[in-house]
Amino acid sequence: MTSVRSMSKTILVTGALGQIGSELVPALRERYGKDAVIASDLRMLPMGASAGNGPFEHLDCTRIRPLQDILSRYQVGIIYHLAALLSAVAEDRPQVAWHLNMDGLYQVLEAARQNHCAVFFPSSIGAFGPTTPRDHAPQDTVQRPTTMYGVTKVAAEMLCDYYFRRFAVDARGLRLPGLISHVAPAGGGTTDYAVEIFYQAIRYRHYTCFLRPDTRLEMMYMPDAVRAIIELMEADSTRLVHRNAFNITAMNFTPDELAQEIRKHIPDFVIAYEVDPIRQTIADSWPRTIDDGAARDEWGWTPRYTLETMTGNMLDKLRHRLRPAM
Ligand code: NAD
Ligand code: SER
Repeated sequence: MTSVRSMSKTILVTGALGQIGSELVPALRERYGKDAVIASDLRMLPMGASAGNGPFEHLDCTRIRPLQDILSRYQVGIIYHLAALLSAVAEDRPQVAWHLNMDGLYQVLEAARQNHCAVFFPSSIGAFGPTTPRDHAPQDTVQRPTTMYGVTKVAAEMLCDYYFRRFAVDARGLRLPGLISHVAPAGGGTTDYAVEIFYQAIRYRHYTCFLRPDTRLEMMYMPDAVRAIIELMEADSTRLVHRNAFNITAMNFTPDELAQEIRKHIPDFVIAYEVDPIRQTIADSWPRTIDDGAARDEWGWTPRYTLETMTGNMLDKLRHRLRPAM
């Protein structure tokens, strides 16, 4: 079984202009070379942006022909499949979410089977549901999500396992927690508050949160997430018992605790609450904390950022870009 480390073929990233892709693509290019990583998205590159940092292809991942064309044209050996609708948007448009999240993955796995590619698939804490243990949710546990996002994530985890068992497609994946980052905006998830709060804290010293102050969820800073993705894909396959859908986390906090941490840097920061019932219901259906012991044991996962270091770093990075509103 190949791992990226032993591959001379190129890498394709779908959904590359999103929150994760905006940081994963540069990290992959830094590691494997800029021409070895083909970024692709349904969206075009923004006006004025150049593909000079490496190849870019306009690609709807639900369409197999153009996908196949790119795989053979660039001799792709591994696909990082990021294109999907996130939890809140998926709940608003469940039919579109099913089509993109399931048909997109099916085409990617089929194309991977035919072209002998490995696949990275990002699942989520959204793959759990209200009957999953709410604290320290185990790696192998009850998964009966009540959202369309969760339904697609569980089905996708199972489809990845199936393609490995049945066709030897090296499909690996992580159940990512809410991701916090400053390069690209969050894409319509339930954990987006933990990104928006930093922008609003710097600009207005005020943020109105759509989740209750005591809503505890698992979170991770993007540099840790990008490193986890690369480390999993480079892991020795003989050590992997699970291979796919690894629980991983770095920290967990509530909106109130995050606001307190921001106040250490911006003492007059104020948080208010206007609860969005849909996103609150989604958050309440997910575990508060998860157990990432399998990832630690099988491929050495260790987070580097805590709530304290992530908050300091986010504020430092954003202060260089944003001006406080007058
Ligand atoms: P995002 O919404 O920021 O980006 C998704 C990208 O996919 C967008 O650039 C969009 O234009 C593109 N896209 C949409 N339809 C497409 C299509 N038909 N073909 C090709 N591209 C298409 O999402 P993200 O936050 O970068 O998340 C990427 C993946 O990671 C998703 O599967 C998501 O469920 C998962 N994930 C994300 C988080 C998080 O907190 N960001 C947490 C857990 C899991
Ligand atoms: N951050 C993601 C969401 O809220 C978790 O998968 O949808």
